[in-house]
Amino acid sequence: MPRFGVGTWRVGERASSAAQEVEAIQAAIERGVTLIDTAEMYGDGGAEKIIAQAIANAARVANISAATLRERLFIVSKVYPHNASERGVPAACVRSLKRLGTDYIDGYLLHWRGEHPLEETVEAFEALKTQGKIRAWGVSNFDTEDMKELVTVTGGANVATNQVLYNLSRRGVEFDLLPWQRERGITTMAYSPIEQAKLLSSTKLQAIARDVGATPAQLALAWLMREPDVIVIPKTSRVDRLQENLGALKLKLNRETLDAIDRAFPPPRRRTALEML
Ligand SMILES: NC(=O)c1ccc[n+]([C@@H]2O[C@H](COP(=O)([O-])OP(=O)(O)OC[C@H]3O[C@@H](n4cnc5c(N)ncnc54)[C@H](OP(=O)(O)O)[C@@H]3O)[C@@H](O)[C@H]2O)c1
Repeated sequence: MPRFGVGTWRVGERASSAAQEVEAIQAAIERGVTLIDTAEMYGDGGAEKIIAQAIANAARVANISAATLRERLFIVSKVYPHNASERGVPAACVRSLKRLGTDYIDGYLLHWRGEHPLEETVEAFEALKTQGKIRAWGVSNFDTEDMKELVTVTGGANVATNQVLYNLSRRGVEFDLLPWQRERGITTMAYSPIEQAKLLSSTKLQAIARDVGATPAQLALAWLMREPDVIVIPKTSRVDRLQENLGALKLKLNRETLDAIDRAFPPPRRRTALEML
């Protein structure tokens, strides 16, 4: 799975910002970003349509077919918990595919745990995999106990990823969830990796970033990517910020910087319940 992707929460909500949102995702694709994270929830399907438009535009500019370009991408979408039933999952998936203008989703996730039994959701995910409508499936907002339960159901051990709130100000997952997933080869997708921009005003983060010659956003993202199984999906609808965030991929953090970060944003000393946004 790619290490760096773009998020799309709050995208596709307003017609007045659609052109700018398409442009930002198109710019990401043109700069080599392959992972795009979305959900049927975002903009009530509007975010998926924005992605389809961005892919079509990028393909046109590159003078290749949208299908050829799509093969290079890794699209993640999510099903609402209330749709996560035996019949609801395939129906929601087909709606997402239509909006995305594609015939498969690379990673299809349960957005959070709801009322439908995990057995049913997993069975539906596995059936979609067999039909070629999705390549892999995962979950989101699952705490360690949820993950332990998930892997006991038939097919549950095929979970590829868990997308959770993880950033410098939300390090709780490092205590047990992350090591548990790491041991099993389950990747962690860090959502709200810059805490919806709130982290960027931290004077502690700003000071460390200055020392390493990076911006606070670059430092926050590079820090998450210090481990190879953590994927970041920052959202921006501005091309200049996208460019800035991509700079995180070139930033290597040494021991001294990691220690300074630990002093400013201490790792967890005990288990805490998984936080959600
Ligand atoms: N699974 C879940 O339950 C869940 C929950 C939350 C999020 N997510 C996913 O994770 C993605 C990322 O999380 P998020 O959108 O909550 O928060 P985020 O990526 O931490 O932050 C996004 C916010 O930061 C701003 N921003 C981005 N880069 C910036 C930069 N370099 N300098 C200044 N501001 C910057 C963006 O504004 P502009 O657009 O104006 O630049 C936007 O307001 C989402 O879009 C979504 O795909 C999943």
